[in-house]
Amino acid sequence: MSIKGCIFDLDGVIVDTAKYHYIAWKRLANELGFDFTEEDNEKLKGVSRIRSLELLLELGNKSVDDKTKLELADRKNNWYVEYISKMDKSEILPGVENFLIKLKENGFKIALGSVSKNALTILKNVGLIDYFDVIVDGTKVINAKPDPEVFLKGAEGLNLNPKECCVFEDAIAGIQAAKKCNMKVIGVGSEEILSDADIVICGFENVDIDILNFT
Ligand code: G6P
Ligand code: MG
Repeated sequence: MSIKGCIFDLDGVIVDTAKYHYIAWKRLANELGFDFTEEDNEKLKGVSRIRSLELLLELGNKSVDDKTKLELADRKNNWYVEYISKMDKSEILPGVENFLIKLKENGFKIALGSVSKNALTILKNVGLIDYFDVIVDGTKVINAKPDPEVFLKGAEGLNLNPKECCVFEDAIAGIQAAKKCNMKVIGVGSEEILSDADIVICGFENVDIDILNFT
């Protein structure tokens, strides 16, 4: 089945917000009295806000009640929202907009598949929102990646069979999610970390849409 639509993760694929998530989680960990490394952060990519907090607390050997959990997640999100409020077009990752333009010109459908509740704000701030036929974000799904819900909703919204969709992902959890629903998946980042993807690119610079022809 040939590819008719692309589903993009947001953080770390379209924009480098993965770094802002990292800085905000690290700030929280440090306030709570422990360190948080970039390697630790890999496990949080694609994972929901509250699950990310739970993983972070496990790393720091901290246990807190549910009310405190919500307060801590809010604290991290407030910092994160402050960081992303300053974003503009210059933070679109190299080659991304050109790739979206080529997809449109060649009749491919485009969806966003992110579990972030801040996705709309980011897409608006960087001026990419109009490229997307469908936006599935954290306000529309119950289960975060590696559950495939976010991508299945994307395919459904595009009116495509999952096998006609190709996912672009920078997170291990996202690659697992795409695989679970039989979608093709292109990893964006390091080949070493994203070895379960069908192919891995290090970014969109100089990447042509004929990359979608791989089988
Ligand atoms: C994306 C990111 C995760 C983040 C999640 C929720 O999947 O990769 O790092 O935790 O979205 O984002 P939010 O903006 O709702 O806190
Ligand atoms: Mg991501």
